[in-house]
Amino acid sequence: MKKNLIVFGTRPEAIKMAPLVQEFKKHSDIFDTRVCVTAQHREMLDQVLDFFNIQPEYDLNLMKANQNLYSLTADIIVGLKNVLEDFNPDYVYVHGDTTTTMAASLATFYSGAQICHVEAGLRTDIKRTPFPEEMNRQVTGRIADYHFAPTVASKENLLKENIHSKSILVTGNTVIDALMVSSKRVENIHNDEIENLKKIINPSAKIILVTGHRRENHGDGFIRICEALREIALTNNDVEVIYPVHLNPNVKVPVYEILSGIDNIKLIDPLAYPAFVWLMDKAYIIITDSGGVQEEAPSLGKPVLVMRETTERPEAVEAGTVILVGTDKDLIVKETNSLLQDKERYKKMSVLHNPYGDGKACERIVSFISNLD
Ligand code: UD1
Ligand code: UDP
Repeated sequence: MKKNLIVFGTRPEAIKMAPLVQEFKKHSDIFDTRVCVTAQHREMLDQVLDFFNIQPEYDLNLMKANQNLYSLTADIIVGLKNVLEDFNPDYVYVHGDTTTTMAASLATFYSGAQICHVEAGLRTDIKRTPFPEEMNRQVTGRIADYHFAPTVASKENLLKENIHSKSILVTGNTVIDALMVSSKRVENIHNDEIENLKKIINPSAKIILVTGHRRENHGDGFIRICEALREIALTNNDVEVIYPVHLNPNVKVPVYEILSGIDNIKLIDPLAYPAFVWLMDKAYIIITDSGGVQEEAPSLGKPVLVMRETTERPEAVEAGTVILVGTDKDLIVKETNSLLQDKERYKKMSVLHNPYGDGKACERIVSFISNLD
């Protein structure tokens, strides 16, 4: 039996690792697979664990209110030491670019186990953009033994860093696996959150769905974003802005201060994954700084304005679904109004694309690991 430890801590890692947990569990004759959550996030992580029915064998339960990068990093490394010593895995799987990813990779390196990096090779090549994710991803890439790259472009980024091609597999992004599972389940089950959304949404309005959380946008960036959303809502009475607000206090406080009390802006709690996917599908335009949403939206054919200056996900920009608008208030308002008014442009941006995968990324990863000696 090969022993797998799958480690994650935040909402997006959980969404993107859940299908891998499920795929490995299908092969319990050859793999003993356990899950360790750092719980860098708590409520937003638990929403995903519930939906995908994952009961972690290890839960470090680390989240603290308004936590800082120093103590979070240290706590993850120390917490994982006990788990690694208890289970003694052959392979440890980490995902993407969070503090959990980077700290878990380092702890695994100390343990001697092999490090498998899922969603490897994305780069802006600008050290502090996004912060701290670009450096988390580069450090993890340097330490990892196996690299599961979602696209050919991400594989090429790794090759440029002299990572051996035999240790890289292009898989597609596991978020598309998750999206497919979720879309199928939503068709078949009654979902209270979706029923509640149907009650609060104005059925005749064009929905602008908003999410945001990036550390580099905290402070003035979020103030400009909120001012743009307020102007869009006040000058377009045929739109409704629906904003599931991230629980980070650096986001939640300014968003509620600036945007509360406007009739066609609905501020709501983070949604569980199936309800969020349902809402993306109903949206006319998505405005976000999220990495995951940039990957999901092309599969749903939704135009996205990305509130960042650069992106490590150029494929959707090239496909024409995504435009970068930064946190420039006037640009966010101008591009949104243009999409609301220019039907031709809207149509060009809302074509279905699948640059990020075909839903079989996890199968490819499991098959690759099965074939290792
Ligand atoms: C983290 C990741 C970021 C990822 C994002 C996804 C790092 C440094 N940041 O950012 O890469 O894109 O998650 O959402 O790894 N909080 C809660 N409940 C929750 C989640 C968060 O209350 O379920 C609050 C807590 O006060 C917590 C704070 O948000 O201390 C910040 O959480 P943290 O994970 O440090 O940063 P994020 O901005 O969520
Ligand atoms: N998402 C969710 N509920 C929400 C908002 C987002 O389930 O209320 C999902 C979304 O579909 C995507 C992921 O969370 O898969 C993105 O998470 P986030 O934006 O927090 O992190 P990032 O992708 O930027 O790292």
